[in-house]
Amino acid sequence: MATLPVTETVTGPALRPLLGEIARLRIAVFREFPYLYDGDAEYEERYLARYAESPGAAIVLAREGAQIIGAATCLPLIAAGAAVLAPFRARGLDPARFCYFGESVLLAPWRGRGFGVAFFAAREAQARRVPGCEEACFCAVQRAADHPARPAGYTPLDDFWRRRGYSPDAALVCEMAWKEVGAAAEAPHRLGFWRKRLMA
Ligand SMILES: CC(C)(COP(=O)(O)OP(=O)(O)OC[C@H]1O[C@@H](n2cnc3c(N)ncnc32)[C@H](O)[C@@H]1OP(=O)(O)O)[C@@H](O)C(=O)NCCC(=O)NCCS
Repeated sequence: MATLPVTETVTGPALRPLLGEIARLRIAVFREFPYLYDGDAEYEERYLARYAESPGAAIVLAREGAQIIGAATCLPLIAAGAAVLAPFRARGLDPARFCYFGESVLLAPWRGRGFGVAFFAAREAQARRVPGCEEACFCAVQRAADHPARPAGYTPLDDFWRRRGYSPDAALVCEMAWKEVGAAAEAPHRLGFWRKRLMA
C-alpha cells in the first residue's frame, strides 16, 4: 500500500485552541450531501469540547502548512452523547467495550490521497490505548438512493468503510436532529452504526 500521509493525533487541553477551526471545517464539509447540515458554530464548539475533556478521546488532524484541512474524532463510547449511547444500551451492549468515531471530515481538494485511511489507522491506534476498548464503531446518515440532493456521480462511502474492516449492524440505529440547508427548523435524521473488532 502507498505510504499514508502524515496526520497528528491531539488529545486533552491541547485541543482547546483548535476547536474553532475544527468547528468551521465540520460545518463546511457537512454542508454537502449526504449530511446537508446547516451548521451553527457555537453549537459546534460546545460539541467538540467533549473531545478535549474526555479521557481517552482524540482528534486526528491533517494539515497543509498552517491550515487544518481535515480532522477525525474518537472517544470512548461511554463519553458520547445520549443519542449515540441509547441503541447500545437498548441492545444490552456494554459501552465500555467500544470507542466511538464521531466524524471524519476532509476538504474536497485533498480527498483520494490516503488521509481517510490514515484517519482510521490513527483512531484505531488511539482506541487500542483505551483500557477495555475492544471494538470501534461509528454511525452514518442513511439517505434514500434517489434523494433529490444527491449529486450526480456521488459515491457512497460504504465500500470504503468495508475495505477498512467495518460492517454495518442493522440492529444499531440512532436518531439525531439537525437543520438542513434551506430548511426552516431542525428535523430528525436516522443514522446506522458500523462496527469493527480491534485486534490487540
Ligand atoms: C471520509 C473522507 C474523510 C475520506 O477521505 P479520503 O482522504 O478521500 O479517503 P482516502 O484517500 O484515504 O481513501 C480513498 C481511497 O483512496 C485510496 N488511497 C489513495 N491514496 C492513498 C494512500 N496514500 N495510502 C493509502 N490509500 C490511499 C484508499 O485506499 C481508498 O481506496 P480503497 O477504499 O479502495 O482502499 C472524505 O471522503 C470526506 O471528508 N467525506 C465527507 C464527510 C463524510 O461523509 N465523512 C464520513 C462520515 S463522518
